Amino acid sequence: MPDSDDILKINPAGPLKGRLQVPGDKSMSHRALILGAMAEGSTRVTGLLEADDILSTRQCLQAMGVEIHGPDEGAVTIEGGGLEGFSQPREALDCGNSGTTMRLLAGLLAGQPFKSTLIGDELLSRRPMERIIGPLTEMGARVTGTDGHAPLTIVGKRPLDALLFVSPMASAQVKSCILLAGLQAEGHTEVSEPGPSRDHTELMLEAFGCPVERLGNRVAVDGVARLRATQLDIPGDPSSAAFFAVAATLLPGSDLILENVGVNPTRSAFVEILRRMGADIVVESERHVNGELIADLRVRHAELHGVDVDPYLVPAAIDEFPVLFVAAAGASGTTSFTGVSELRVKESDRISVMAKALEALGVNVDEEPEGLRIRGGAIQGGQVDAVGDHRCAMSMAVAGLVAAGPVEIAGARNIRTSYPRFMEDVRAASGHG
Ligand code: S3P
Repeated sequence: MPDSDDILKINPAGPLKGRLQVPGDKSMSHRALILGAMAEGSTRVTGLLEADDILSTRQCLQAMGVEIHGPDEGAVTIEGGGLEGFSQPREALDCGNSGTTMRLLAGLLAGQPFKSTLIGDELLSRRPMERIIGPLTEMGARVTGTDGHAPLTIVGKRPLDALLFVSPMASAQVKSCILLAGLQAEGHTEVSEPGPSRDHTELMLEAFGCPVERLGNRVAVDGVARLRATQLDIPGDPSSAAFFAVAATLLPGSDLILENVGVNPTRSAFVEILRRMGADIVVESERHVNGELIADLRVRHAELHGVDVDPYLVPAAIDEFPVLFVAAAGASGTTSFTGVSELRVKESDRISVMAKALEALGVNVDEEPEGLRIRGGAIQGGQVDAVGDHRCAMSMAVAGLVAAGPVEIAGARNIRTSYPRFMEDVRAASGHG
């Protein structure tokens, strides 16, 4: 039985208006803490996301002896001791619900001369870890999982052996895991991927003074590397902004400005997909900070129509599909999503969880092994289950804002893993806060 703080009740809302600053980017926040810890000196970070997933990374690093202070006047400071500044944790490192914490820290720990164990919650313990166990083992670490899943036990090796790795999937977590290990290997470590995955690790490594070689979907580092402490300013998370972009698009009369959002091309394909569906999104005041492209997004209500979503855009919109499914449910005609099977191994099986929820709200859905076809129309009120997946819960909340009646969402507690003040921001933008 879900308890009451796991249930979210959403009523249909009026237009979204005004200006909104969504919280700091989750991917960049993990990397800022980890690379800051691996660097030599004091790294100051503003805009760091304050949410459970980032707390997991912070606590794991602290358990390895890294000092992290703040936020103090909006800034978190990491006292990096270089690649040799980590000590063996006394207990298992708890990654909570966070796949990025587990996979990136595994890359760091592979190069440390001690044994450590990474554990996670029930959802994380079901996610595939073979994709990092194989390459880290090839680099000389001893990594054992349980049937390819967490808990992971890692006996590191210093230095690691360099690796040329051809990844079967476009995954920034896999790529970053190997690059973090590669920094601690002797020689040239290269990862090539079948498509472009988010490149925050590469851009941030450069901000830490560490050269990264890039050619198409190939990326390489030379080790053993040294990172120099730096200052970072983290923009708003496009994955959080996407919920508001879809809600504002679907709610008549909306005119909302999402300020200071990361629009790195490897992350912002949801804007392109929504535009192809007819959305009115204007990207304003583009600028670069720490190598990352940032902008304000002005979103006005528009009528959407169904499209065949281009599979080439999938990696750059991977976390936005749950809310894009809601956009498709609110569009006229049919939208088909193909080549999105990676969604089945996220915090939940996002294809099946969202398909069930949309059906419960009266939307016509065909689930396929690698995708979903959604016939848009009216979204009804009803009861749905996000099964503990934060992005599904917030997507269902967006469905509730545009539905004909109230939507009750079970399994919503984990919204706090990425966007604790989501409901406050919804209230502020819909003028009820
Ligand atoms: C992330 C990469 C993506 C994404 C996840 C965050 C990252 O996962 O879905 O939410 O920060 O590197 P994959 O690497 O599994 O595609």
